[in-house]
Amino acid sequence: DSSEDEGEEYLFKVVIIGDSAVGKSNLLSRYARNEFNPHSKSTIGVEFQTQTMEIDSKEVKAQIWDTAGQERFRAVTSAYYRGAVGALIVYDISRRTSFHSVARWLEELKTHCDTTMARMLVGNKSDLANIRDVSLEEGKDLAEAEGLFFIETSALDSTNVKKAFEIVIREIY
Ligand code: GTP
Ligand code: MG
Repeated sequence: DSSEDEGEEYLFKVVIIGDSAVGKSNLLSRYARNEFNPHSKSTIGVEFQTQTMEIDSKEVKAQIWDTAGQERFRAVTSAYYRGAVGALIVYDISRRTSFHSVARWLEELKTHCDTTMARMLVGNKSDLANIRDVSLEEGKDLAEAEGLFFIETSALDSTNVKKAFEIVIREIY
């Protein structure tokens, strides 16, 4: 009942973007269902999950949207971004080209969304430290230059996955 303060609900839309195969879908499945798929297929179109968390004893719901990194499989761009108040921009720490693409993803975000949205730069696959291609410092520096939060995650071993989403959701709230 929206006329009461108690039990009032909040629903926030958060989008995940980044090149194909950086691990967007696995970050979402790890966060929402604690699942990881080592053989996941490229996303076609758009998928979303609704996740509830409690902040200051209020129920906060985040609707987290995931689409394809590959242009030919992507959902209608304007619809994907419409109403989003948070974003995770993901690259793969073992693949430098995916880090270079961050600039392009940020441009697209700026075209479709308000600049006040909560944005988190995510260096995923931190478990692949032995074949790291982008240093922690480079990630931090880019985030600082662009005014983004920054975190490294692993959807495989779960490191920082919950934290990445919850920092963004908290910031929105
Ligand atoms: P598109 O849907 O094509 O845009 O790709 P995506 O960004 O959703 O990537 P997806 O989650 O499908 O993962 C791509 C591949 O990377 C899969 O084989 C995953 O198992 C693997 N992967 C995802 N996250 C991690 C991670 O944290 N560590 C490792 N080692 N592999 C990962
Ligand atoms: Mg996907």
